[in-house]
Amino acid sequence: MGETARRLPDTVLRRLRTAGDWLRYGARLLERSGAAHGQGFLDAGEESATLLAHALGLPWEALGEALPRPMPVPAAARLRDLLERRALDREPTAYLTGEAWFGGLRFRVDPRVLIPRSYLVECLPTLAERLGAERVRRAADACTGSGCLAILMAKAFPDAVVDATDLSPGALEVARLNVADHGLGARVRLALADGLGDLRGPYDLIVSNPPYEPEELRSTLPDEFRREPAMALFAGADGMDVVRTLLAQSAERLSPGGLLAMEVGGLRGAIEVAYPELRAEWLPTADGSDCVLCATRAALRAGVTKPAARRASRGGTGRARAARGKGRAR
Ligand SMILES: C[S@@+](CC[C@H](N)C(=O)[O-])C[C@H]1O[C@@H](n2cnc3c(N)ncnc32)[C@H](O)[C@@H]1O
Repeated sequence: MGETARRLPDTVLRRLRTAGDWLRYGARLLERSGAAHGQGFLDAGEESATLLAHALGLPWEALGEALPRPMPVPAAARLRDLLERRALDREPTAYLTGEAWFGGLRFRVDPRVLIPRSYLVECLPTLAERLGAERVRRAADACTGSGCLAILMAKAFPDAVVDATDLSPGALEVARLNVADHGLGARVRLALADGLGDLRGPYDLIVSNPPYEPEELRSTLPDEFRREPAMALFAGADGMDVVRTLLAQSAERLSPGGLLAMEVGGLRGAIEVAYPELRAEWLPTADGSDCVLCATRAALRAGVTKPAARRASRGGTGRARAARGKGRAR
């Protein structure tokens, strides 16, 4: 399809007068174009409002007042470009605006990092209650991406120093910006590492939202999701490559009363088969997927050192479900 054919029609756009007209047009366009949501947004309406606010240079909360007013010409040009890139080129909204809101905080994002949507954000209060927020002194976030979970952990555990790792130098650059934005340079330490690398801990809490999709899923993802880094999503033929590493590393590096909390998408069955002796708990999540494994050091030491023979996992995963439209709320 040529460039001209991919532009939105002037005849329709000329009829849009107010910011509210553009909001409704954007939502309809995203619905009709079959754009996939789930990268931090629930639906086309939310994405349209976010793009409109960005084009107007307004915070989301100020949008209501702007809706009845005429759309300024420069903002209309900016929004047209954003809508074309979102609806026609399938760029994710968060990459277009350069930010994502997650756990009540703003994070910078770009195509070097996964757009934040981990279930772990729901689990942090439970973990703080169990461990005692003030008693956690050393924590780790393996596979930190944008640094969102490490930063939220540093806020939830005010006396903790958090080691945050990633195998992608680009992701760590984004994380560095976010750590600085939130003024946490003294407490969140970033490191290039495979899993936890040679960081020894011992940690009172290790969290991770690793890549956990089987490779075979790659070709089935909507275009928006393929714009995220492949290494943020896929982890070998069975999706378990990084999960295996982190289970083994955590068994060695948790403090005696420490906990591992790891999002594993649809891998629960595969983990239960591969580690039959692992007495893990599955933390509840609001949508009922309950896909966050939680294990003590003792459980990991008893259950992870001798995994059963590997078996390939089949079936959907958390991020694949998101790709099919089950969005993660802001
Ligand atoms: C699913 S993303 C999670 C990012 C972030 N924690 C979040 O929840 O938004 C997984 C991250 O793991 C990183 N990664 C992939 N393989 C890794 C490995 N072996 N060791 C450390 N990080 C890895 C990717 O670069 C990516 O940033």
